[in-house]
Amino acid sequence: MSNKPAVVVTRCLPSAVTARLKQDYAPFLNEDDVGLNAEELVRRAAGCRAILCTPTEKMDAATIATLPEEVEILATFSVGFEHIDLEAATKRGLIVTNTPDVLTNATADVALLLILAAARRAYEGERLVRENNWVGWKPEFMLGTEVTGKRLGILGMGRIGEAVAKRARGFDMTIHYNKRQRLPADQEQGAIFHETPEDMLPYCDFLSIHCPATPETHHLINAERLAMMPDGAIVVNTARGTIVDDEALIDSLKSGKIAAAGLDVFEGEPNINPRYRDLPNTFLLPHIGSATIETRNAMGFKCLDNLDAYFKGNEPPDRLA
Ligand code: DGY
Repeated sequence: MSNKPAVVVTRCLPSAVTARLKQDYAPFLNEDDVGLNAEELVRRAAGCRAILCTPTEKMDAATIATLPEEVEILATFSVGFEHIDLEAATKRGLIVTNTPDVLTNATADVALLLILAAARRAYEGERLVRENNWVGWKPEFMLGTEVTGKRLGILGMGRIGEAVAKRARGFDMTIHYNKRQRLPADQEQGAIFHETPEDMLPYCDFLSIHCPATPETHHLINAERLAMMPDGAIVVNTARGTIVDDEALIDSLKSGKIAAAGLDVFEGEPNINPRYRDLPNTFLLPHIGSATIETRNAMGFKCLDNLDAYFKGNEPPDRLA
């Protein structure tokens, strides 16, 4: 019998990550890559000292309470951890780690992609070309919104928010931000701090959402706050769908109050609010913020670095609980 720690892995991982996993651990893989329900996950975890999960597995208090006693550590292949009840994990003595930093650039790139695509009507244009309905150039054809020189509001100025600000400066955008605590001046780089989202929203020609999903941020972007934005503003979200009240955003997109939206994340994804599909002024992506080979490898290696540290008796570098 192997003396390598047994790890249950909930989804297929990039091949370089799986290779390292196999070298150092005794992995129990999910070769079919079909999502596991809580019961199945708990069943597979029997005899394993670690779980390597993803945001698609809900590790709520009930699931954590039924985990086999031998499970010591849960490493999530994500920076977001709203799918894990950290309080229940702490109570149970379960170590929890995530993958910060390594997906900052890839996610910020997608935020810029959404900003540009929403502003320049990329979905409508792409569809015209592909469906052979493009009749030619004319001065008033497909006019969008200029990005260069506009005001960008960043809701949640953490690592990803800062990386978005850095990119947006390349478009001469003025950066506004809301965060619980003001950044030091050298880090702010001229960005304008607002103590509350309500203070910032009237200055947002563009709003990019980067705060975590918590009970406090649930439906933070609702009808009342969308109404505070300038007419014709653009909203993009690469954080979590639950931060936006979909019905309110869709109503604002229909009325033209919000000119366009670029969304990579949705409440209840992949079962998104179906009204989004009928809106030409949206650019919709299937949660691919971190989906590059480099980033997904780095996320997997981070999970393994955390497991390695723990099993060597050290503090895991990205410990949440
Ligand atoms: C995360 O890591 O939280 C991302 O949403 C996955 O791309």
